[in-house]
Amino acid sequence: MSKILVTGGTGYIGSHTVVELFNAGYTPVIVDNLSNSNIEILNQIERIIGVRPEFHQFDLCDENKTREFIQSQPEISGLIHFAASKAVGESVADPLKYYYNNFFSLINLLNAYRETPINFVFSSSCTVYGEPDTLPVTESAPVKKATSPYGNTKQIAEEILAETATAYNNYNIIALRYFNPVGAHSSALIGELPNGVPQNLLPFITQTAIGKRERLTVFGSDYDTPDGSCIRDYIHVVDLAKAHVAAIKLLEKGNPNGKYDVFNVGTGNGYSVLEAIAAFEKASGQKLNYTFGPRREGDIIKVWGDVSKSSTQLNWSAELGIDEMMSSAWAWEKYLEENPII
Ligand code: NAD
Ligand code: WQD
Repeated sequence: MSKILVTGGTGYIGSHTVVELFNAGYTPVIVDNLSNSNIEILNQIERIIGVRPEFHQFDLCDENKTREFIQSQPEISGLIHFAASKAVGESVADPLKYYYNNFFSLINLLNAYRETPINFVFSSSCTVYGEPDTLPVTESAPVKKATSPYGNTKQIAEEILAETATAYNNYNIIALRYFNPVGAHSSALIGELPNGVPQNLLPFITQTAIGKRERLTVFGSDYDTPDGSCIRDYIHVVDLAKAHVAAIKLLEKGNPNGKYDVFNVGTGNGYSVLEAIAAFEKASGQKLNYTFGPRREGDIIKVWGDVSKSSTQLNWSAELGIDEMMSSAWAWEKYLEENPII
């Protein structure tokens, strides 16, 4: 079966996608510089699928290394590009790190494939919609001015990809706009490994419940939402991983929409922070220690996706709900406590 290059394949979403590619009969090949992941994840993937995936450690910002590697791998027919820096707050403090890492890696990969047909799937984000004017937000909603350098790298990357697909005939590209990825593999052998104090809701919830954090602060209680807290479209990481397999399959078949396309990847359902906490308490049987705090600057109030295009054209829909998201995230946190893998 075809070889698929997974950049950032030892990271959170990449590792789950490696597993789903293997389950679908593909041979995943990982490139990662381990700047935000751990080599132990490769062992964990091997425990799940029974095979050690091919792994290459290098920085995709190294143009020569990237070109030489691509030239040495002529069997690769598809590429899923996860490798990027992704912390919104850090991108505000150190924008050049984000513009450097996220653009050089992307451009080096595209240049390396300049003469070769390639199916290319890109990790984009619902952050491109900002605060949407209408909900659920569709793929044709306007892209709003980014509120962080990180968000800006996703918007500009989408433009680079659209222009590249139009100008040259060897690229077939899909950008997936993820909503909020959460949860972990059902084996609890892989999951999210946040760096330091988690900035995202779910790892903060699970770390609080396990006792690593004293309490969760709910950022804002007076928003214009039914319970006053912000609303998001949380998507189980295993469903998200399967969306990448669906995107590769669509590109292999030939996307009738053309050489560049975008899809929302969410469940289509919005949950407030308080609803997410309640779902966690129900799924884990743990009471969560939380308090209300001020609004977080720059937070989107409410966003959830229209997923009809993904369902009809990508042939993919989310199968797992909020209960599975919470129970798998909790199982992973407990696994980490018993088996500190980093
Ligand atoms: P992650 O940090 O867990 O994984 C990214 C991986 O890429 C890491 O293993 C890191 O070591 C590697 N990497 C980074 N720069 C590299 C480089 N120059 N060369 C080689 N490897 C490099 O992040 P994730 O949560 O799995 O996110 C994957 C992608 O999805 C990113 O592009 C991210 O922006 C995007 N995304 C993530 C979310 C989210 O909430 N997690 C939401 C929307 C989009
Ligand atoms: C979710 C909700 C918070 C922590 C960010 C990026 C976005 C995307 C995913 C990649 C919000 C609330 C959180 C806490 C809280 N990444 N919250 N207390 O803000 O939707 O998106 O990550 O593309 O670009 O901006 O996700 O998990 O940070 O927050 O109350 O301690 O939880 O206010 O309403 P967000 P999040």
